[in-house]
Amino acid sequence: MPDFATRVHALPRLGLGVSTEYGATRSDGALDPAELRAGHPTYATFLEVGVEIIKGLDESASAWAAAGHPTTYHFLDINLDDPDDQDDAWLAGVRALIATMRPAWLCGDAGLWHFGRRDRGHMLLLPPILVAEAVAPLAAGIRNLRAATGLEVLPENPPGSAYVGDLHLLEFFARVAEAADTGLLLDCAHLAMYQRLAGHAPRTGFDHVPWDRVVELHIAGGSEHRDGAFTWIEDDHGTAVLPDTWEIAEEAVARATNLRAVVVECERNPIPATLPLFARVAELVAPRFRP
Ligand SMILES: [Fe+2]
Repeated sequence: MPDFATRVHALPRLGLGVSTEYGATRSDGALDPAELRAGHPTYATFLEVGVEIIKGLDESASAWAAAGHPTTYHFLDINLDDPDDQDDAWLAGVRALIATMRPAWLCGDAGLWHFGRRDRGHMLLLPPILVAEAVAPLAAGIRNLRAATGLEVLPENPPGSAYVGDLHLLEFFARVAEAADTGLLLDCAHLAMYQRLAGHAPRTGFDHVPWDRVVELHIAGGSEHRDGAFTWIEDDHGTAVLPDTWEIAEEAVARATNLRAVVVECERNPIPATLPLFARVAELVAPRFRP
């Protein structure tokens, strides 16, 4: 297989997109991706579909795929570092959805989506342990899933209200990217959470990042909370993006030379409330996605 520096040239430039999860559009006042695309085509050039194999696609994701619009496949049910998790039944489900959705690639938080066996509705999502020993198993899982599907598998830095391990999160993912020879998905809001918890400035560790591997960015709202002396950021996917997240996103857009896709994660908000956020992100990424 050619190396990632060669493979990345075959990845399509998707532009600015929006995310969804099973049933998200059914919640009160939530965004309908098709309606967003109809009214504001440049804000929804593709749909990032959050997938649990046991649930499959909901009606809005199915309709989007049936219309032939571009998608990416965001997994919500795989612990990449566990070889037993990529069992035959799960892989058959993944391949079937790929045939339906024709996603440009697979991506998703590279953490623990479940504890113990996979089961319906887990959606636990803990970050990986940030130690050198955790790099190889995660990289092996990425390589295995890439080989099993024929698509790139972009690991994403997960959210968390506590992180364990001695490596900076960006150094950990840089090592994973190297070991798996893969591209990366940088979630700017998740990184802002991590930096705040670790007592770092928003751009600490940026020199660790192999920026030519960063294919996709996520930008999302967050809110700050305090309980006694403990403060943390909740990844609430609202429309208020924290200044730290903007700082990270602006620098990432400038540095990521192979950027192909940016997702605004705001799936449970009404369209009018999201438009100012989409407008600002569209302006930010325009230099990268100009025809
Ligand atoms: Fe994300």
